[in-house]
Amino acid sequence: MSAIVYLNGEFLPADEAKVSVLDRGFIFGDGIYEVIPVYGGRLFRLEHHLNRLDHSLQGIHLENPLPHSQWRSVFEQLVEKNGGSDHSLYLQITRGVAQRDHAIPLQNEPTLFAMCNPLKSPNLSTYRQGIEAITIEDIRWKHCNIKAIALLPNILLRQQAINAGVSDAIMLRDGEVTEGTAANAFIVKNGCVITPPKSNLLLPGITRDLVVELCQEHKIPVEERAILEEELTEADEVWLTSSTKEILPVTRLNGTLVGKGEAGPMWEQMAGLYRDYKTAVREGRRD
Ligand code: PDD
Repeated sequence: MSAIVYLNGEFLPADEAKVSVLDRGFIFGDGIYEVIPVYGGRLFRLEHHLNRLDHSLQGIHLENPLPHSQWRSVFEQLVEKNGGSDHSLYLQITRGVAQRDHAIPLQNEPTLFAMCNPLKSPNLSTYRQGIEAITIEDIRWKHCNIKAIALLPNILLRQQAINAGVSDAIMLRDGEVTEGTAANAFIVKNGCVITPPKSNLLLPGITRDLVVELCQEHKIPVEERAILEEELTEADEVWLTSSTKEILPVTRLNGTLVGKGEAGPMWEQMAGLYRDYKTAVREGRRD
């Protein structure tokens, strides 16, 4: 049975959902997206995702076509039609169908699309081994805070990492860490959790913010400040965070072990706090 997707106000089987070849998303990559985890049928940190959606839309001069309450209703219906439980909900808004012209059309109906993808919780023993990554120059534009669907640089950088025989890359701009190809970056040094501050050079990750909040809540030292390349390579622990990866340890960087080459004690603590938070979302105690 084909999964049910949402397209421009309708719920329909994925193989019946069609978008015009003149859609500016297809022609120009002119659109933005969100990825929202769903646990036990409940939307994780929905207001945070919708606020970031607003910022991305403002960043590309597109009005939000629906109020937050209506987005919530669309997402809840979509999750229910796909059997509840755990998903990553993907939402994409493009500037819609128009004759090809770089200039933004004065009046255009945006294209609204959402689907549910399977979401598996991390396997603890695999996560404890961590992944291998390389550092790479950040070749992206200077509006990385917009969650744009145009991801060609991220795709090429991820592939460069794969071609180098590792799983991912951590990007550097002017000698400072920005983020992973589809995740935010953290280091741990001498018991302090450190992540770069929010700026136009990286995506303000919802998972990143939750990790910072959980540190604050549990009195774990945390700093939002620039991370120099040398600090990255000398870190006790390195993590990547995202809605789908949660908190993923990087245990080898540029061929060298990070710490002992396995997930560190701070990761164990944070991963536990993150799991507890997810349980609270499943049980409707937090969102
Ligand atoms: N990506 N930075 C980049 C470049 C990302 O693409 C992502 C997420 C993040 C983490 O954001 P969040 O914690 O809100 O998921 C940071 C999603 C998951 C994706 O493209 O599939």
